[in-house]
Amino acid sequence: MPAPWSVTLRRMKDLAGKHIVLGLSGGIACYKAAELCRLLIKAGASVQVVMTQAAEQFMTPVTMQALSQRPVFGSQWDSRAANNMAHINLTREADACLMAPASADLIAKLAQGQADDLLSLMCLARPAERVPLLIAPAMNREMWQHPATQRNVAQVQSDGARVLGVGHGDQACGETGDGRMLEPHELLDELIAFFQPKVLTGQHVLVTAGPTYEAIDPVRGITNLSSGKMGFAIASAAREAGATVTLVAGPVSLSTPRGVQRINVKSALEMLAAVTERADQASVFVATSAVADWRPARASTSKIKKDGSGQPPELHFVENPDILATLAQSERGQSRALYCVGFAAESHDLLANAQAKRASKGVPLLVGNIGPDTFGQDDNALLLVDEAGSRALPRDSKLALARQLIAEIAQRLGPGAAA
Ligand code: CTP
Repeated sequence: MPAPWSVTLRRMKDLAGKHIVLGLSGGIACYKAAELCRLLIKAGASVQVVMTQAAEQFMTPVTMQALSQRPVFGSQWDSRAANNMAHINLTREADACLMAPASADLIAKLAQGQADDLLSLMCLARPAERVPLLIAPAMNREMWQHPATQRNVAQVQSDGARVLGVGHGDQACGETGDGRMLEPHELLDELIAFFQPKVLTGQHVLVTAGPTYEAIDPVRGITNLSSGKMGFAIASAAREAGATVTLVAGPVSLSTPRGVQRINVKSALEMLAAVTERADQASVFVATSAVADWRPARASTSKIKKDGSGQPPELHFVENPDILATLAQSERGQSRALYCVGFAAESHDLLANAQAKRASKGVPLLVGNIGPDTFGQDDNALLLVDEAGSRALPRDSKLALARQLIAEIAQRLGPGAAA
């Protein structure tokens, strides 16, 4: 299984300067909270842990203190604070409160505004307009689908909390279904996304990524060195910005960014079909795929064998359709109802080649990069070329560049972009 998306590309301190209050209520998923705490710290956040008594049955405060490097709070009667008001002090400097795991009991208390332990009291006493509350439920599937829990979840949502959803699968009790707490890396992705500006809310972004594979016979084909990382980073950044995202991916071994719909394809023709089918719903198309320019005119249905003559087989090629140009020159592309963005993988003369490619494809924005310097790497440098001129985005991680590109696209879509 490929490494989780957040581990693949996230070398950045995405939560630098953020102070997170991590609340643990009672549930077996407390064991995941230890890893979550570690990931938050690695991402640059400072973390203050608050635990209920029930949570302490599953995880010791010692472990959470060691991981967060701060004393853990568990009681509203804790006298360590000079004013004896832990429930007030703990949230005043926080950027967010994340309840993970949030038990059925905690969610019920939050829904009713109960405040008989430090965690629920602290949530009630937090300045709600500037300290968001995020909730990662964790419970048995019957508890999760019980109307009382669903009612409480709806209530806390309408009171302004963000419920991050639950995972599906085997549960500690031996049953299978909905209710598992999301994995620590998924919660990290959710939290990082939460803090990103929502500049593409209401937009549908369609992205192509990775190489294509053009079969010669059942065991051989023509492909290229594209890793797909730039396209996956763009899909991830678009999702973080609030867009609905469809990612049409050639054969790559990357995990799917959270919240992104992925369609796997192999050949250029399959990629064109997948994109064409979805283009009408999209408002932005970003073509990062390194599409093979040619494919064998006819793929052999059986393996091509050596015939002993020493002569290699003769292969005939035909040109693949240009997916980007097809969409850019469609009616929606021309009217910019579908805003098309191309990439150019060049080896030299980046500006001149990118300008020429922008004109020949008919796209408003083209992003140039030096192919051999970026294929397979986690970082890149981009040159944005549009009708007004060009702008360099200096070398940075692909995710950081993807976020800048998404901000540029949102700006070009105009003030009404985030619906
Ligand atoms: N592209 C595409 N379909 C193709 C070829 C390219 O959609 N059949 C898209 C790529 O995804 C990229 C842009 O067109 O957004 C430019 O791709 P690139 O490989 O740099 O250029 P080519 O158009 O293939 O031209 P050349 O190889 O001659 O530089």
